[in-house]
Amino acid sequence: MKHLIDPTDLTHEETNNIIALAEDIIVHREQYTTRMNGKKLATLFYEPSTRTRLSFTSAMMELGGNVLGFDDARSSSVSKGETVEDTVRVVGNFADIIAMRHPIEGAPLIASQVSNVPIINAGDGSHSHPTQTLTDLLTIKRELGHIDNITIGFCGDLRFGRTVHSLIKALSRYSGIKVILIAPETLRLPDYIKQDVCDRLGISYKEVRTLEEAIPCLDILYMTRVQKERFLDEDDYDRVKDSFILDAAKMKLAKPTMKVLHPLPRVNEILTEVDADPRAAYFRQVENGKFVRMALICRLLDWKNDSMHQMPVPHEVFIDDDTLHCRNPKCICNNEDVKSKFYASADNIVRCYYCDTKVR
Ligand code: CP
Repeated sequence: MKHLIDPTDLTHEETNNIIALAEDIIVHREQYTTRMNGKKLATLFYEPSTRTRLSFTSAMMELGGNVLGFDDARSSSVSKGETVEDTVRVVGNFADIIAMRHPIEGAPLIASQVSNVPIINAGDGSHSHPTQTLTDLLTIKRELGHIDNITIGFCGDLRFGRTVHSLIKALSRYSGIKVILIAPETLRLPDYIKQDVCDRLGISYKEVRTLEEAIPCLDILYMTRVQKERFLDEDDYDRVKDSFILDAAKMKLAKPTMKVLHPLPRVNEILTEVDADPRAAYFRQVENGKFVRMALICRLLDWKNDSMHQMPVPHEVFIDDDTLHCRNPKCICNNEDVKSKFYASADNIVRCYYCDTKVR
């Protein structure tokens, strides 16, 4: 059985297969309207969402399937202290596939280890958001005609932005990718992504201070929101919240073919005056999210009993050392009764298996 917890759970071929299926669904929608007849998707959302939850719901409905679940954990037995593992064991009796969003990093991974149905990570804390990544890849493909050989600028919150982390990982499989990082000092891309993904897998990247110096050479500008909810101190948020704002004047510096993506929601980082520019692709990106989730649901259920499509065997070396401790308060191992687990990444840094936080 295949789950989707991290973008790299899919091989490059499987990823491209899902994107190709999404493109076919766009062209031949009428051929897919009964594809999920009799099947049920459970959406377990422990954290707010508009696009992801509703696009999963819409995707399953367009495929002829049904949807159940919760969008507020307080209305479920989670409020009585039920663990993620127990919840998933229970919901697996009622649904054929589960999409889970959780503020605790590693929660969908733990869920996948006990689930008898495919689990889709719909976003875990600041860690990973692989269905947004599939959405972004499909959008790049449809907007530019290709994913290889592009220069992409990531702007805003690159530290907590799980969509950025996941997309960089996924792009590492394509060739000729150049990344430009545009972020305030306190929101720079975590070292583990730079070292484990960019350096190890050969993505060229550079960090710049201003949007103006990056924008002229970009094929894709990926804007992100500074996420207030990820800050422990509100003063820290206030200091960086207005760091980078895309407006019509800055768009004049960009190529006529550049496209602007944003996972949304936005606050003020893209002024509404940009929305009418044909290069603003972020609302088209939302619709792509539905098509790619339709494709993902079909594929994960097609592959459920196919031994060709299993979870990848971890290539990392696991470390057995009782003195190690994950210091991330938002990691599942510090929130539920989960035994800590660590691995040594390619650069010999020891990281938490559930949230990738550097431990030693
Ligand atoms: N892009 C995204 O994840 O949006 P929601 O938080 O609304 O699901």
